[in-house]
Amino acid sequence: MEKEIDILTHIIKRRRSIFPASYTAEEIPVEQIQQVLESANYAPTHKLTEPWRFVVFRQAGKLKLAEELARLYKETTPTDKFLQKKYESILEKAAQSSCIITLSAHLNSDKIPEWEELAALACAVQNMALTAEALNIGAYWSSPGMISDLNGFLEMGAQDKCFGLFYMGYHNDVPREAKRTPIEDKVKWVES
Ligand SMILES: Cc1cc2nc3c(=O)[nH]c(=O)nc-3n(C[C@H](O)[C@H](O)[C@H](O)COP(=O)(O)O)c2cc1C
Repeated sequence: MEKEIDILTHIIKRRRSIFPASYTAEEIPVEQIQQVLESANYAPTHKLTEPWRFVVFRQAGKLKLAEELARLYKETTPTDKFLQKKYESILEKAAQSSCIITLSAHLNSDKIPEWEELAALACAVQNMALTAEALNIGAYWSSPGMISDLNGFLEMGAQDKCFGLFYMGYHNDVPREAKRTPIEDKVKWVES
């Protein structure tokens, strides 16, 4: 058996953002989506607030979400900035995806600052991305402006905040190298 560290490093480095245009029409079984969500639940969380909240949109549900996102885009974009192509791409991305998960945090401002809850959510999303990668599912975190107006649609209260959409689908993209500058450029060592 390969060493755990080799498997982990391989999955971390192989994970890429894979966009809906690359997805196949194959449905992701509910069990695999649950596996991805189960991994989210093991993210670190200060004071054990477990702030991550998800709504899973599949089948006709994801089209409802897309219609709401498209409606919000039209409503909040000044007429001279509105692009019909972008409006249509919102609907198209949902049609191409097998599943879209909204990424929200339940804020506990009396206990810990918002940034810590967002950080915990981001850790949960990375767990999701790595689990998706291990299942050969393509995924990416999308953060369009409309997410700040989704609370009503998601039936979430004022303490909840949506930070993104996690698009998922099987794909046949060839693995591509990550674009990163060396870690040595970002680390300072102090040893004396
Ligand atoms: C918080 C967050 C928000 C993101 N929002 C978007 C987005 O709105 N649109 C997009 O194309 N990619 C988005 N991405 C994905 C990045 O573009 C992607 O991670 C980056 O290009 C590096 O590529 P990689 O994920 O394949 O390593 C987001 C990533 C993060 C972490």
